[in-house]
Amino acid sequence: MKHLFRQGEAGKPVLLLLHGTGGTEEDLLPIAEMIDGEASVLSVKGQINEQGMPRFFKRLREGVFDEEDLVYRTEELFNFLEWAALEYDFNRKHVIAVGYSNGANIAGSLLFHYEEVLKGAVLFHPMVPIRSLNLPNMNRLPIFIGAGTNDPICKPEETKELKSLLEGAGAKVNMHWESYGHRLTESEVSEAKKWYTSIY
Ligand code: MLT
Repeated sequence: MKHLFRQGEAGKPVLLLLHGTGGTEEDLLPIAEMIDGEASVLSVKGQINEQGMPRFFKRLREGVFDEEDLVYRTEELFNFLEWAALEYDFNRKHVIAVGYSNGANIAGSLLFHYEEVLKGAVLFHPMVPIRSLNLPNMNRLPIFIGAGTNDPICKPEETKELKSLLEGAGAKVNMHWESYGHRLTESEVSEAKKWYTSIY
């Protein structure tokens, strides 16, 4: 998978950056810098090309995912993480996802499919990635969700549904609401930073 890796300070987590539709592996670098400038960064580019816009999995239309592709791409990302930990010699158990929109959705899908796949997750404007699974035990996994009360893509009801699914699996979810639609705002990122600093 096309990606970039930046080595951080010894003992710091690895931030796995997952961009939104139409983004690249460069997009979330400033966000990672804001959240933890000393962490390592592994930033991945989505393999799907939707009319020139990179994504992490196919969709049938806006908000309706191609579940077969989602499952396949989630496994591909899981395998990539195993590979990257060996290649760049980082602690595989120390990976925290930071995803926006489509990137938050594939991060959510990793959590829905694999136990202990991440040490935590920052999900900006996520949706429920898939509904047909029994979720693995998330065992107090810390998750931050940034959402919009008026987000037309990731609707508040769906964000709340995601929160209760994650909590039902044992995760510790911290929710932050803004009212700037689907936009990822600076204040949302600074809330995520506060949450991150209180935990890691
Ligand atoms: C998705 O397709 O993952 C969501 O609709 C969000 C987006 O537009 O990327």
